[in-house]
Parts: sequence; C-alpha cells; structure tokens
Amino acid sequence: MILITGGAGFVGRHLCAYLAARGGDRVRVLSRHPEWVYEDARHTLAVASRTVDRMGETGTVDPDQIAAARERIERGTPMLQDFVDPLPGDIADVPVLVEAMRGVDAVVHTVAIIRETEGRTFAATNVAGTENVVAAMHEAGVRRFLAIGVMGSVDDERQPYSRSRWLAENVVADSGLDHTVVKPSLVLGHGDAFSKRVISALDFSKPIVTLPNGGKTKFQPIWIGDLVRVLASILENPDAIGRKFEIGGPDQITFSQIAGRFAAILGKRRAFIPVPSQLLVPGAVVLAKLSRDPPVTRTELRELEHDNVTDLDSIQRQFGFAPLALSEYLPDYLSAMTR
Ligand SMILES: NC(=O)c1ccc[n+]([C@@H]2O[C@H](COP(=O)([O-])OP(=O)(O)OC[C@H]3O[C@@H](n4cnc5c(N)ncnc54)[C@H](OP(=O)(O)O)[C@@H]3O)[C@@H](O)[C@H]2O)c1
Repeated sequence: MILITGGAGFVGRHLCAYLAARGGDRVRVLSRHPEWVYEDARHTLAVASRTVDRMGETGTVDPDQIAAARERIERGTPMLQDFVDPLPGDIADVPVLVEAMRGVDAVVHTVAIIRETEGRTFAATNVAGTENVVAAMHEAGVRRFLAIGVMGSVDDERQPYSRSRWLAENVVADSGLDHTVVKPSLVLGHGDAFSKRVISALDFSKPIVTLPNGGKTKFQPIWIGDLVRVLASILENPDAIGRKFEIGGPDQITFSQIAGRFAAILGKRRAFIPVPSQLLVPGAVVLAKLSRDPPVTRTELRELEHDNVTDLDSIQRQFGFAPLALSEYLPDYLSAMTR
C-alpha cells in the first residue's frame, strides 16, 4: 500500500490514476477532502492512458502489462474507486497520520500550500506538516519516503514560501528514512492551479493583461503524465534513495510566452503589458484584503522574480525517456479545461 498525503490534489489525483492503471499496490489518499480524488477521473485516466501508450511505444515495457493497463483504464471511475482508499485527515494531526500509515510500504508526500490563507501558514503546513509525516512514519515503522518539493527552494528570508520548502527538504534529508525528493519546475495538465489562474486572468482582464516581473520569468513546464511516470519509477528504484531530482520538460519559456500561447489556443485577443513586480505589490496587498482568492499575492510576485529552470535533458538523463513538449499537450488539456 502507498500512502499519498494530499492525494486528492492535482498531482495526487493524476498519480492515483496512473498507479491504478498500472495495477499493483493499492493507494491510500489522506487529505482534508479525500473524495476529490475521483474528481475529473475521466481526465486523469485519459492522461494515464496517454502515458501508458507512450511507454508502450518505447518497446521496453512488456506488451501484456500495457494491454492490462489499457483494460483497467477502460473500466473508468469504478476501477479507480476499487483501487484508492480515501481517508479524511489533516497532516497537523499526528495520530491520524500514524493510523493512515497502517499497512503502508511507502509514503508520497505532496501536501504544501503556496498561499497563507485561513490561518494556515507555510511554517505549519509546509515545514511542521513534513515533520509530522516523518514522525508518524517512524512511529508506524514505514521507511520509504518520496517527497515532492519545488525547484528554487532557497534559504532566503525574502522568499518565505521558497524558504519553507527549503526547510522542509532539510527535514526530509535529516529524517533517517529512505528518502527521495523530486523538485519539478511548473507542472501542467488537466486541473493544474497555474492554468486555472491564467485562464481566469484572460477571462477577467480585458483587453489588457498585466505580466508581473515584466513577463520575463522563465519556466520549464513538465507535463503531469511525465511527472507521475517519474514518481512511479522512483518508487520502483532503490537506487533513487538518498537522492534529489530537479526536473523540467524540454521547453524553457517565459511567462509572457506562456500567457501568449494560452491566449492563442483559447482564442482570446488580449494586450499583454509587462510590468515590474514592485508596481504590482500595492494592488496585490489591497486585493488580498478584499478577496479570498486574489489573482496574485505579494509572496507570489516575489517568487516570480526568480527563474524556474534546469537542464533541458533532466528527464532523459535521469529517467531515460523523452518528456512531451508543451506543444504536444497544451492545446488538448486547455481546450478540455475551458469546455
Ligand atoms: N503544480 C505544480 O506546478 C507544482 C510544481 C512544482 C512542485 N509542485 C509540488 O507538488 C506538490 C503537489 O502540488 P499540487 O499542484 O498537487 O497541489 P494541490 O493541488 O494544492 O494539492 C495539495 C493537496 O494537499 C492538500 N492539503 C493541503 N493542506 C493539507 C493539510 N493540512 N492536511 C492534509 N492535506 C492537505 C490539499 O487538499 P485539501 O486542501 O482539500 O486538504 C490539496 O489537495 C506540492 O508540494 C507542490 O508544491 C507542484
């Protein structure tokens, strides 16, 4: 059994669908809303299907396994429901975490917040939450720990989010567990938060859309199907223990270019105005007071001042396959998300 903390989130949902398609160990999802793991099952299973097909094309995977995965995917949501064990819980609650570890061989830790809302802080969720998971694993005797981090985590007080992720990585490194950390650049696919934000910015900001940091922040987007393939291969590979993997897809692209691609695919004619982040801070501060879900926060503006890129061959070199280029997946999922 694999436990996925935050398994009903974007990455968790897609990882569940992919692991379910592959068969094997069942999955337990711990989240405050675990039933959301079945949300968008049609789309998460479609991504799993494409990922499995791509593996089939390499000829390195047993064709019987590929055929079995296709059959499982065809069974749809009921197959996912048979495979996933949803468990309500908060990572602040160590006894619940220990209970969640019953019969578990490996933990995939995805919980993190990028916004401090409703009294939830980076320190409590990102750092102490990771400490709680580690403590519960020790108590329950679970050894294998795969933590999802972020590219660009850093010990810099001016970046409280990235610093919390740096602190959490240290918790994992010092855990004494059989740990691995994966640090992706921007992850894109059906249901991801970045795409939702850009889509709503294009909907609500007419005809002008402002681009923070002059639109020049660089990303290296990775398709969600490729990320879950990486995660599953790490779980199967004991040589990954004790290692950190920075990964990105095969395109390095600026925020301005991404926004332009979104607009072109969605047929939205907008004027993009690059603006230095400092000019947007006062507006972000006011909006944070007026809205529970502002378009951007002051913390995010600061994060956007840093590029989020790594080697262009990071996946091929470390995981032996070629990840999809943006042009190969962006139009499909964006159209589906806005249908
Ligand atoms: N998406 C990306 O582009 C990207 C890029 C690089 C790294 N990552 C990393 O990948 C991981 C997963 O990201 P994601 O995009 O899947 O985020 P997500 O959709 O926000 O998923 C995180 C999940 O954690 C749950 N959660 C939050 N606080 C919790 C708590 N106290 N106890 C239990 N569950 C809690 C949330 O559900 P509830 O609020 O319902 O509990 C949510 O479902 C994160 O560590 C993220 O930083 C993501």
